[in-house]
Amino acid sequence: MKPPKIEPVDAGPAIAPEIRPGQSLELLKELHILTREGKLNQDSRRKLKQVYHLYQFIEKLLLELPASSAGITLADHGAGKSYLGFILYDLFFKTLALGRIYGIETRPELVQKSRELSHRLGFERMHFLNLSVAESAGSAELPDRIDVVTALHACDTATDDAIAFGLQKHARFMVLVPCCQAEVASCLRQNKALALARTPLAELWRHPLHTRELGSQITNVLRCLYLEASGYQVTVTELVGWEHSLKNELIIARYTGQKKRSAAERLRAVLEEFGLAALLETRFKLPPTI
Ligand SMILES: C[S@@+](CC[C@H](N)C(=O)[O-])C[C@H]1O[C@@H](n2cnc3c(N)ncnc32)[C@H](O)[C@@H]1O
Repeated sequence: MKPPKIEPVDAGPAIAPEIRPGQSLELLKELHILTREGKLNQDSRRKLKQVYHLYQFIEKLLLELPASSAGITLADHGAGKSYLGFILYDLFFKTLALGRIYGIETRPELVQKSRELSHRLGFERMHFLNLSVAESAGSAELPDRIDVVTALHACDTATDDAIAFGLQKHARFMVLVPCCQAEVASCLRQNKALALARTPLAELWRHPLHTRELGSQITNVLRCLYLEASGYQVTVTELVGWEHSLKNELIIARYTGQKKRSAAERLRAVLEEFGLAALLETRFKLPPTI
């Protein structure tokens, strides 16, 4: 699809070259990127650069989507203050006649604030649902199909729930920046003695700090294999410039429909090797044909 044509909305000349024509200054103030006086300081310049950096990854994917009669649908999981959703709406969805963004968030006060802000800005195709990611998969408030799933630092297993949501909704793209994940580390911890007796590789997670770190690392490896086995092509890069967080692994999954048998085999083997086979029945359920 063609990039949206952005018309100036907020009157007045561009405040700084970093601000794009048509960008809502009110939104940038609400996100504390612009000061109340409408100024950009060094800190906020950096913040804006980071936001654009992530936006650019997602914009490329949005442009690849064919124009459909209902418009593009995007669900942002663990939305928090929804700044990602707001920026995406402001820079991409606003000037399109169609398309919807859904922000999924468990904290009601954040949902309420986002609703108020979207009303104030006239961003009427943004919807905020006070649901957990897992609940949202069964919610009638969301359509059966969602084109793009994002989850930026969604806590713990919320990223796994976002993947399950994306599979259920036949998402064309999933953009995931995982947070810490405790589930796998806890399984590693439970089976530690057994694993130490069985394999010298268990030294990799003998010390509690390593259990946690390796748990996070394995989790993301398993997520990638699971996505590949489910018909997605996966790229893993670093969300550079994301200085305010140590968690900056960016996983982009693109639906191709090719379910990789080798990825399914590797997934089973890795789970087995680490004593995590039970997760095949819960997190990483593979279709029986693969
Ligand atoms: C670290 S914040 C990230 C917020 C936002 N995505 C960002 O990057 O600025 C994680 C958010 O996910 C929400 N959250 C955690 N678990 C969730 C779940 N299972 N379902 C929906 N939201 C969840 C939290 O309330 C919190 O607002």
